[in-house]
Amino acid sequence: MNKSLYTIAENVLIAPRTYRLVLVPLSFRAEPEGRSREICHGEFVDIAIPGFYLRRPLSICDREDGKLTVVYRVVGEGTKALAEMTAGTELDVLTGLGNGFDPESCREEALLVGGGLGVPPLYLLAKELKARGKKVTAVLGFNKAEEIILADEFRAVCDEVLVSTVDGSVGVKGFVTDAIAAANPTYDYFYTCGPMVMMKVVCQALDGPGEASLEERMGCGAGFCYGCSIQTKNGPRRVCKDGPVFKKEELLW
Ligand SMILES: Cc1cc2nc3c(=O)[nH]c(=O)nc-3n(C[C@H](O)[C@H](O)[C@H](O)COP(=O)(O)OP(=O)(O)OC[C@H]3O[C@@H](n4cnc5c(N)ncnc54)[C@H](O)[C@@H]3O)c2cc1C
Ligand code: FES
Repeated sequence: MNKSLYTIAENVLIAPRTYRLVLVPLSFRAEPEGRSREICHGEFVDIAIPGFYLRRPLSICDREDGKLTVVYRVVGEGTKALAEMTAGTELDVLTGLGNGFDPESCREEALLVGGGLGVPPLYLLAKELKARGKKVTAVLGFNKAEEIILADEFRAVCDEVLVSTVDGSVGVKGFVTDAIAAANPTYDYFYTCGPMVMMKVVCQALDGPGEASLEERMGCGAGFCYGCSIQTKNGPRRVCKDGPVFKKEELLW
């Protein structure tokens, strides 16, 4: 785990109640017992928001030249306060938390399945898989056209991008599983992130092996308080430290 100061370079509205936050490192301090390591796909940062006791976990969407991008939705007071922050504001950020997606698990063809705010964490993974020469198909699900985020960014990186909307305003009408059933993409490994109910249905519908990025309410965010524990087939696991990404076969839905 690393604790660093970042400056907000950009904090802009990209969809209803949804913001893209770009952070530039100001200073860096490795925790005494920790080891500095590169930030990976599927990891999250834990941001201290002044006036709030607990940090707020947000997934990393992109990383370039030390800059971190996260995409977040305003759901409560903490994210509302974050949305009001302007460029130049300094933030205390923990990085190097948790275990992200494993690009090594994909042999040749990857299927990425994201729903809503579960789409951004798959972007850095899509870039990594393409850099490794894999064929990448992304299936991105939203409720309606206005809520679509990052579709163009995924199109610029992936071999194929399928979009579904619940109201049918763009792409396949229905859920990500309807788009997958319609297109029947080939894959040898899948990666999913989104609402729990979506990931459960995806894991049940897809025969192949895969992994899912879970969300749980967090306390410390670093493995100490056990506040984020879930039951798995291998016993209790902490989402913040053992996850947030877990193999499909480990999960008890
Ligand atoms: C590993 C991880 C990665 C995440 N990545 C993202 C991301 O990339 N983008 C994003 O928008 N959000 C993400 N979240 C959720 C985000 O952390 C919460 O939305 C945020 O902490 C809410 O803070 P708040 O003060 O605005 O809301 P609060 O006032 O704390 O809560 C408002 C509402 O949001 C719900 N809520 C709060 N925290 C969570 C949570 N962790 N999981 C589920 N529901 C919650 C509460 O039950 C309540 O209904 C992630 C959460 C985790 C654990
Ligand atoms: S939030 Fe404290 S152990 Fe996970």
